[in-house]
Amino acid sequence: MDQIRIQGGRPLNGTIPISGAKNAALPLMIASLLTSDTLTLKNVPNLADTNLLARILRNHGVDCAVDGKRANNGGHIGETFHLTARDIVDARAPYDMVRRMRASFWVLGPLLARQGEATVSLPGGCAIGTRPVDLHLMGLEKLGAEMELSGGYVVAKAPKGGLRGAKIEFPMVSVGATHNVLMAAALAKGETVIENAAREPEVGDLASCLVKMGAQIEGIGTSTLHIQGADYLEGAVHTVLPDRIETGTYAMAVAAAGGDVLLEGARADLLETPISVLREAGIQIIETNRGLQISRNGAGISPVSVETEPFPGFPTDLQAQLMAFMAVSSGESKIRETIFENRFMHVQELARLGADIKIHGDTAYIHGVDELRGAEVMATDLRASVSLVIAGLIAQGETTINRVYHLDRGFERLEEKLSECGAEIERIQA
Ligand code: UD1
Repeated sequence: MDQIRIQGGRPLNGTIPISGAKNAALPLMIASLLTSDTLTLKNVPNLADTNLLARILRNHGVDCAVDGKRANNGGHIGETFHLTARDIVDARAPYDMVRRMRASFWVLGPLLARQGEATVSLPGGCAIGTRPVDLHLMGLEKLGAEMELSGGYVVAKAPKGGLRGAKIEFPMVSVGATHNVLMAAALAKGETVIENAAREPEVGDLASCLVKMGAQIEGIGTSTLHIQGADYLEGAVHTVLPDRIETGTYAMAVAAAGGDVLLEGARADLLETPISVLREAGIQIIETNRGLQISRNGAGISPVSVETEPFPGFPTDLQAQLMAFMAVSSGESKIRETIFENRFMHVQELARLGADIKIHGDTAYIHGVDELRGAEVMATDLRASVSLVIAGLIAQGETTINRVYHLDRGFERLEEKLSECGAEIERIQA
C-alpha cells in the first residue's frame, strides 16, 4: 500500500487550485439515472470515489464518457463527464460496489423512480459511526415505495403508476437522505414537500441541476423544498461547485504551517463558519476575485471552541483538520462532534506526533503544544487522513502516513498541490 512521506516545518506559499466538490459530483452523477438524455457535468474531480461511481453507473447501463483534463493557466479545471442512461439494464447495485462507497446507496431513489424497482446493497464507506439509512427508507416509503430488507439488500418497489408526491419531515438533517428523496421526487407524480432538508451547498447544487433537467423545485438553499415531479426529465449541462471541504482543508494547512497561499476558485459563501473560526484563531483571510487568500506570518495561534453542525454550521468534514491545527495553538481548545459518534479516530494518531488531546464523550479538549514531532501514523478515514497530512506539515522531522488510499477517495493531486507551495511531501509507491 502506498505511503505519504512529509518532511515538516516548511511554510506554504503560492497558489492551490480548488477542485470540483466530491460531495456534489457524486449525487450529480447519480442524477443521470433520471433521464435517457445526456447529462454533462463539468469540473468533476478525478478521484477514486468518482471513478468508482462511474463504474457503478456503467453497471446500471449508463454510458459514461470522460473528456481529458484541461489546464487553464497551469491550473486544473477538472474533467467533463457525459453520462447517458438510455436504458437501465440492471436495477441492482451489488454489495461489492456499494460497500466501498456509502454514496452509491443514493442510486436507490432514482432507480426506483425511473424503473419502478431497485435492489441496492446496504452501504459501507468510512468507518465513522453506524450511519444507518432509516431516513432514506422512510422518505421513499412516504412516496409510496414498498421496501423489504433481504440478505443485506434493500429490495424496493414503486406502486403501480409510479411514486407519488408526499410530505416528508426528516427528524434529523441528513445530506444523503435529502439527495435520495429529492431525486426520486423529481420523477414522482405531484408535489413533494421535504421539511428539515439538508441545506448543504451540495444539495443546492443537485437541486439546481435537477431544475435544468426540467424539475420544478422551490426553496433551494432552505430547509423546506417543494418539488413538482415531472413525467420526464431532460439532459442538461452543469458545472460542479468548488469543494468547500478541500478549501477549508488547505486553509487550515496554511494556517498551521504558516505562509501565504491563494486558494484559487474557492468561494467564501460556502465556508462562512470555518472562515470566522480561522479568523478567531488569528489567520488572515482575504476574499479576492480569484479566490481566497490565506496567510499567517509568524503570529501565534489563538485557541477556539467549536461544535460541528449541519450547514451553515461548522462542518464535521473539517473537524479533524481543525484539531490538527489547534494541536499547536497557544492554549486550550474545545471541539464537540455532534454529527457522527465515532469521528475521533485521528486523535490517537495525532498523539503519536506529540499532540495533547483528551476526549470526554463527544468533546475533544486540545491543549496546544509548542511543536509536533514526526512519526509513523495510520490514516483511518478520509478526513482523518488529511488531518495527519496537516500535522505532518507542521511536525519537525519526518512523518510517514500509511493507508493513504483513504486520501485518494477525496483529495485530488494532494501531494502535487502542496509541493507546488513548498511542502516537502512525496508518495512512496508500494
Ligand atoms: C454526507 C457527506 C459526508 C458528511 C456528512 C455530514 C457525501 C458523499 N458525504 O454523508 O462527507 O460528513 O454528509 O455532513 O456527501 N443518519 C441517520 N439515518 C439516516 C441517514 C443519516 O441516522 O438514514 C445520521 C447519520 O448516522 C449521521 C447524521 O445522520 O449521524 C448525518 O448523516 P448524513 O448527513 O446522512 O451523512 P451522509 O449523507 O452519509
